[in-house]
Amino acid sequence: MTDWKNVTDAIDEYVASLGERSVLPGLSRDEVRALVASFDFARPMTENDAIARVLEGLRGGQVHTPHPRYFGLFNPATTMTSVAADALVAAFNPQLATHNHAPFAVECEAHLVRAFGERFGYSKDDADGTFACGGAEANHTAIAVAIARAFPEVAERGLRALDADPVIYVSGEAHHSLEKGARAAGLGTKAVRRVAVDRSLRMRMPALKEAIAKDRAARLRPFLVVATCGTTSAGAIDPLSEIADVAAKEKLWMHVDAAWGGFAALVPGLRDAVRGIERSDSITFDAHKSLSVPMGAGMFLTRHKGALSQAFGVHADYMPKDQSRDPYASSLQWSRRFIGLKVLLPLSVLGWEGIEQTLARFVALGARLKEKLSANGFVLKNDTPLPIACFVDGAREDGASGKYLDSAARDLAKNARAWISMTRIGPNGERVLRACITSFHTTESDVDALVDGLVAARARI
Ligand SMILES: Cc1ncc(COP(=O)(O)O)c(C=O)c1O
Repeated sequence: MTDWKNVTDAIDEYVASLGERSVLPGLSRDEVRALVASFDFARPMTENDAIARVLEGLRGGQVHTPHPRYFGLFNPATTMTSVAADALVAAFNPQLATHNHAPFAVECEAHLVRAFGERFGYSKDDADGTFACGGAEANHTAIAVAIARAFPEVAERGLRALDADPVIYVSGEAHHSLEKGARAAGLGTKAVRRVAVDRSLRMRMPALKEAIAKDRAARLRPFLVVATCGTTSAGAIDPLSEIADVAAKEKLWMHVDAAWGGFAALVPGLRDAVRGIERSDSITFDAHKSLSVPMGAGMFLTRHKGALSQAFGVHADYMPKDQSRDPYASSLQWSRRFIGLKVLLPLSVLGWEGIEQTLARFVALGARLKEKLSANGFVLKNDTPLPIACFVDGAREDGASGKYLDSAARDLAKNARAWISMTRIGPNGERVLRACITSFHTTESDVDALVDGLVAARARI
C-alpha cells in the first residue's frame, strides 16, 4: 500500500521550509548521477525506499522554482488545490481523446476555454480552443490553424500545393517556439520574419508594413502575424490594436502569444495594456506561467469555431463519426490527460476575484522591485507594466558587462538565496539581468532582500 501520508507530509515539509533553503540545487552533478544510478531496475526496492530517494533528488537536484526568492523564468509556485487536481487526474486517469470516453472532463475544458476566451474579449458564442501541454505547443497549433485557414489545399497536398512560399511575421523579441513551429510545419525558419522593435522592445509598425510589402512584391504569401503580449526576456507588449489593424487590412491571421503576459487581461488595472487582444484570431495562454498551477497547462484559444478541426480533423474507421466535441479532432494530441482540472479547481475555489488579487500583488511587487532598483543605482532597460525588470548596474563602470552581470547573479544565489537570470534584449543583444515575480510565496521583504543582495554583491565583486 502506498503510504500517502508520507508523501503529503513531504510536500507540506517542502513548502514550509522553502524560504530557509538555498534556491540552488544542493547536490552536485556527481551526487545527482550517483543517486539516479542507485535506481537499479534489476534490484527492486521498497516503495518507501524509492520515494525517499526521489524526495532526496527533488529536494537537492533542482533550482527551487516555488522558492520565495526565485525571481526567474515563468515557473510559478503551485497552490495545493492545483496539486490536488493533478493527483486526482492521475488517479482517475480520464482519456480526453474523445467526448464519449470522458464527458465530464471534456465539458469542463470546453467550459474553461469559453470562460478564458471571454476574459480575453472573445464572445461567449464564438470562443473555442484546446488545452495544450504548453505555450510552445499552443504556438505550433496557431501556425497549423493559420495555414489551414489561409491555404486549405495544404491539408492534403502539403506545401507543394502552393505556388509561392508562405510568410510569418513575429517581433525580434518573440519566443523561439515560433521558429520551431515553422520548422515542424514544413515552412522552415526562413519563413519567419523577425520584425524590428522600438526602444520599448515592441514590434515597430512601419517595419512590419515594409516587410509585408516587400514580401508581396517578391510574390511571397504573407498569412500570419504573431504579436507577443509579454515577451520572454523583457515582458514587452507589442502594439496589439495596431497589429490588428494591419492584420485586417492585409488579411493575415493574427495570433497573440500571451503565454505569460496574458494574465494582464485578468487584472483590471492592466486591461488597457492588452487592448486589442480581443481582435486577434487566436491566443496562446499558459495557466502554468501565471496562475500558480503545475506545468503542462497551456491553452490555445480562438474566436473562430471550426478553425481547429480544419487543421486537425481526420477520419479513421475506428474513431467516432461525430467529431464535433472530440478533443482529438481539434488538437495535435490523441491520448491526453485532463489538463484543465488544475485550472478549474483553483479557479472554482478562488474565483476570478481571488486570482486577480494574487496577480495584482505580483504587479505591485514588480513595481516595488523596479523602484528599489532605480533608487539603488541600477538602470532599468525595459518598459512594461508587467512585473519583470531587466537592468544593468549603473553604479559600476563595468556594470553592463556580461562578466560582471554573471558574477552578480551567482553572488546573489550564494549569499542572498535569490535566483535571477541573465538575458539579452534588443537588436544588439544587450546583456541584462532579469528578475521576474512568479511565486506567490514572494513578499516585500524578499524583493528588498534581492535589491540589498545586489548592492552587497556590487561591493564584493
Ligand atoms: C512568450 C512565450 N511564449 C511561449 C513560451 C513557451 O511556453 P512553454 O514553455 O509553456 O512551452 C514561452 C516560455 O517561456 C514564452 O515566454
